[in-house]
Amino acid sequence: MKVTVGSALCAAFLFGSTIAAELDPIVIKGNKFFYKTNGTQFFIKGVAYQEDTSRGKTLDEVPREYIDPLADAAGCKRDIPYLKELGTNTIRVYSIDPTADHDDCMEQLQEAGIYVVSDLSEPSLSINRDSPAWNDALYERYTAVVDSLQKYPNVLGFFAGNEVTNNATNTPASAYVKAAVRDMKAYIKEKGYRSIPVGYATNDDADIRVPIAQYFNCDTEEDSIDFWGYNIYSWCGRDSSFQKSGYDVRTKEFEKYSKPVFFAEYGCNEVRPREFGDVEALYGSQMTSVWSGGIVYMYFEEENKYGLVQLDGKSVTRLTDFKNLKSQISKVKPKTIQASSYTPSNTDLEECPAAGKHWDAAVKLPPTPNEQLCKCMTQYAACSASTSVTSEAIATHFSYICGEGGVDCSPISSNGATGEYGLYSMCSPVEQLTWAMNQYFNDQDQDETACDFDGDAKIVSPKMSGTCDKVLDEAESSLPDSTPKTTDSDKSAATINSPAKLGFAVLAAIIGSAFVTLA
Ligand SMILES: *[C@@H]1O[C@H](CO)[C@@H](O)[C@H](O)[C@H]1NC(C)=O
Ligand SMILES: *[C@@H]1O[C@H](CO)[C@@H](O)[C@H](O)[C@H]1NC(C)=O
Repeated sequence: MKVTVGSALCAAFLFGSTIAAELDPIVIKGNKFFYKTNGTQFFIKGVAYQEDTSRGKTLDEVPREYIDPLADAAGCKRDIPYLKELGTNTIRVYSIDPTADHDDCMEQLQEAGIYVVSDLSEPSLSINRDSPAWNDALYERYTAVVDSLQKYPNVLGFFAGNEVTNNATNTPASAYVKAAVRDMKAYIKEKGYRSIPVGYATNDDADIRVPIAQYFNCDTEEDSIDFWGYNIYSWCGRDSSFQKSGYDVRTKEFEKYSKPVFFAEYGCNEVRPREFGDVEALYGSQMTSVWSGGIVYMYFEEENKYGLVQLDGKSVTRLTDFKNLKSQISKVKPKTIQASSYTPSNTDLEECPAAGKHWDAAVKLPPTPNEQLCKCMTQYAACSASTSVTSEAIATHFSYICGEGGVDCSPISSNGATGEYGLYSMCSPVEQLTWAMNQYFNDQDQDETACDFDGDAKIVSPKMSGTCDKVLDEAESSLPDSTPKTTDSDKSAATINSPAKLGFAVLAAIIGSAFVTLA
């Protein structure tokens, strides 16, 4: 077809005019959400919306990948009518691909009046509760997701973590997640993006539920969450109630909380089909002064039997849970207030929880990842780790170098319980391995055989630069006064060993001796 300039312009105009009016962003005032323009309170009526890639597979076969639900325009088109039928105004997505195009789905969702709250991690790039880190690789992933979604007015918020700390045995991991919250808030501000809030989604563990909510909303506003998500599955079956489910006590616990709280996942399935008796409570007068609604887990029926619909190729079948949820949601009418007539009464941050039997995360958070510092450190190394080294090999090499190998690995170690964070603890594992291998190599007077590690290391010529000199100097001088500083003999030894800067910046970085990040 021959397209004339006139008709192309005309088509562009027509296309432009069919784009839906932008959805009004949701903003936070006090512990509530509001439509930005007209100031009416907003209650989340949400559904978790992400297919599991592990469907029908055993744990060993589960690929460390994911299906981005916002990159599948046909899937959005297929599912949005069902979401609308459920009165959905928000979906939660768990992992999106920041390099994919989300325009189509995001526009469809806007047209349907649906907001999105997105997690920032993905299965292979998330904070691990057993060996937690907040490093440059994670920082890059998280900021990439923020960059790719910030332009859509219907993005309601981001989760910087989901159930990372899940019981009293792994509470130090929360220090790393809280650092992620702090850094994403700062990043959004620094970039001049719309102030999209950053929160966290917790599980419901009796031992830690109180201290974890305090921890993430204490110390300073800059490092505290903007909203709190609660994954809760305690209302099971027809016999449950506001009291039996513990929703009454949970509500009491958050009465004085200064941030919006909502159910980031709910819908116990111990009794099936689910009847969602809790919907009436959640959007009723006993809860709406504290809670901002919730997100039902989840849209797709999978092995774990939480689905609202059964997907079969292109066809969608409503399950009994769908019909039950629809009937419950259609009955509720949460009482809204206007932002203009609301003066928040909960204005104080929480007291940070003291270390004790059930809580052990430091108020002092890990540093902001500094990619440039990590790059400079690796550039100055004379022995470098192969980028294709496997994670098993990384663990093996660390345990040798930092053990028998005699290298003090505190500069690459960190401890979320004591709040001690080595200067390079925020570098990626491969960068840290280069640091360790190079340190070992220097300790062995750069004996050629000391830079091999089953072929995972190789001798390289350090690439010095004025910029890196400065970066490394600044990093060293940023260390607290109590940090052991480089002695002159260390300096000369380092100089003899040639990757001079690396030698003493690293030695100066000895902050703690705990090996939390090392297996
Ligand atoms: C504000 O806008 C929302 C979304 O369009 C709407 O549901 C609500 O009724 C409006 N409030 C008022 C007071 O008009
Ligand atoms: C704590 O959580 C971990 C990880 O899910 C689990 O392996 C462990 O059994 C739990 N411990 C307790 C005491 O609940």
